[in-house]
Amino acid sequence: TNKGVIFDLDGVIVDTAKFHFLAWRKLANDLGFDFTKAQNEQLKGVSRVESLKKILEWGELELSKTEFKRQMALKNENYLSYVAKMEEDEILPGVQKLIDYLIENNIPFALGSASKNARVILKKINLLEKFDAIVDGNDVSKAKPDPEVFLIAAEKINIKPENSIVFEDSVAGVQAANNANMISIGIGEQKTLGEADYVFKDFTEIDIDFIKKLLTK
Ligand code: G6P
Ligand code: MG
Repeated sequence: TNKGVIFDLDGVIVDTAKFHFLAWRKLANDLGFDFTKAQNEQLKGVSRVESLKKILEWGELELSKTEFKRQMALKNENYLSYVAKMEEDEILPGVQKLIDYLIENNIPFALGSASKNARVILKKINLLEKFDAIVDGNDVSKAKPDPEVFLIAAEKINIKPENSIVFEDSVAGVQAANNANMISIGIGEQKTLGEADYVFKDFTEIDIDFIKKLLTK
């Protein structure tokens, strides 16, 4: 059977998850409250709009439409100031090796990210041209845990959902992969991502042989 791979971006290919956290926390602090790292897990994989809605709930704040939009723009501006400082070598350890393996073995792979900044980031780390398909926050209407983003990605690389392997660092993303009937691999903590079919701390813990087996099963 033909199998394919779908990568989430933030927190999987690059550690931009930490920049999202810093930028959202600054927004909350500027509005006069704070949130915890545990709460931040609920923001991972979640679109910009949905993230701000959650944060405002935590702070028990309501904003006018205009102010909501302004805060979202400020957050993104702040976030992009971190992204601008990213270096080419910020691709997370082990990721390049896996991508090289996929290319060498003609295994199609796509990006499935909620981010509207995905292309900017991929360009910074020289991966933009490597993906067979890119599906990002500009292409989807339903946020993870809805499977939409991954289903579109699988379709674009011509792979059936059940033959797609998804790498995700977020709870919402793992749920989205599961909802799409795909094979989910969590990148992070077992205690957070326990719903995934497999969990690894990072890509250096994933043996190429394990990937080979998954791909030929
Ligand atoms: C990813 C991140 C989220 C982020 C979302 C939207 O899913 O994990 O933290 O909110 O993308 O990203 P954007 O770059 O469009 O604000
Ligand atoms: Mg992520």
